[in-house]
Amino acid sequence: MKNGIRSKMFPSILIVDDEAYIRKTLKDILTDEGFEVTTAANGYEALKSLEKNHPDLALLDIWMPGIDGIETLKEIKRIAPELPVVMITGHGTVDTAVSATKFGAYDFIEKPLSIDKVIITINNALNFRRIEEENKYLKRKNLEKNSISGKSSAVNELRMNAAKVAPTDSSILIKGENGTGKELIARTIHQISKRADYPLVTVNCAAIPEEMIETELFGYEKGAFPGAKNRYKGKLEMATHGTLFLDEIGDMSLKTQGKILRVLEEKKFQRIGGNREIEADFRIIASTNKNMETEISSGNFREDLYYRLNVVPVEVPPLRDRKEDIPVLAEIFLYKASEACNKPQIQFTDKALGLLAEYNWPGNVRELKNLVERLTIMSSKNLIDIDDIPVPYNGQKSSELAPAENMNSIDSELLEDALIRFETDFATRRIQACAGDTKKAAASLGITEERLSELLENKK
Ligand SMILES: Nc1ncnc2c1ncn2[C@@H]1O[C@H](COP(=O)(O)OP(=O)(O)OP(=O)(O)O)[C@@H](O)[C@H]1O
Ligand SMILES: [Mg+2]
Repeated sequence: MKNGIRSKMFPSILIVDDEAYIRKTLKDILTDEGFEVTTAANGYEALKSLEKNHPDLALLDIWMPGIDGIETLKEIKRIAPELPVVMITGHGTVDTAVSATKFGAYDFIEKPLSIDKVIITINNALNFRRIEEENKYLKRKNLEKNSISGKSSAVNELRMNAAKVAPTDSSILIKGENGTGKELIARTIHQISKRADYPLVTVNCAAIPEEMIETELFGYEKGAFPGAKNRYKGKLEMATHGTLFLDEIGDMSLKTQGKILRVLEEKKFQRIGGNREIEADFRIIASTNKNMETEISSGNFREDLYYRLNVVPVEVPPLRDRKEDIPVLAEIFLYKASEACNKPQIQFTDKALGLLAEYNWPGNVRELKNLVERLTIMSSKNLIDIDDIPVPYNGQKSSELAPAENMNSIDSELLEDALIRFETDFATRRIQACAGDTKKAAASLGITEERLSELLENKK
């Protein structure tokens, strides 16, 4: 148990006890175990030592003359709220020790002290603290990874609006062309909302076949229909306390629209074949790349559902309408892609960035990101200049290219295919480089394992 699981080589421990004998014995044992130990004979000394030595953990006797253990604990939690504190209790102070956990003590150990128990408790507390730190770090990293970048006033406004609506429970409808960042915004809102500790569950309305959507959404009970061998939790239920992201809502059938509307009205639902009411406790964020007014007037979308979803509309403008974001995003994507490829940091020349900013980007941010990844892999230099930027992004033939709406659909399909193949190859090679460790490979690519397996699916 000497090293290994501890976060630092020599975690430091502060022992606070008024009995000199206990201080000395504990100090000897813990020093033998490889800890750095300081001691304090009372609460005052403990607080002084804390500010000077910044220990990783405190062992704190409950009964001490002067300020007792509980008062000292409260003060410690005020100065160093993250510091794990383990209480030492004598006979008859176990109740007090239990109440100490309410004031933030991690655990308590009883006198007479068992050496094994002391060491195990200390290691548990240190591990717990390390896991907490790791969680915080991962959360922060996730937020960074999902941050909405750009410097245009449109993006500033998006960020401000996201921050404003996140704490509320209102339904949000995010509108914008393909690849503008609708899903990214939905994730950001979820992550800064009070539901962030619960799941964000995505329903891709365009991708789930009509005959499956009901079971996907509502789940079913065992025996609900032939083949229902086990109970299955639907997406609505999985989103409990969290956020339900209805992606591409414009593609949802009228029948499913009716069902969703009913859930929103009644605020509850049942599994298929079940009779227990399940509370619909989720926040809805929907997205669409369609013009919903047109969809409503042509009878494809229910107006009543639209009004329920569109409580807070968020419009994401196409990239060509916020050109000042293009160089900023290109540089961020280049930085991340060279990191992911383990390449030395590559840079764009100013001219190259200027050229990218002039392009029309029918596929918006996604298209820009894909191009930058491609350039990163192809490039053998540290600088990407205008000559490195391929057609049509370099402006050549751009006069012959139709605008986004009229883009030749065969060309765009070919491009899409090529990109998918490219991504899949890239992912496969990365997994090989990571000796088959898909978790590591996904992390190094900055994507989820789910996404990675999707990419591999394409290979089949
Ligand atoms: N402002 C931004 N800052 C950083 N990355 C962005 C930004 N906008 C979009 N992206 C990235 O571009 C890609 C496409 O974004 P996203 O999937 O959110 O778009 P979408 O609008 O949902 O697209 P679609 O309509 O095709 O589903 C993602 O990789 C996303 O992280
Ligand atoms: Mg999307």
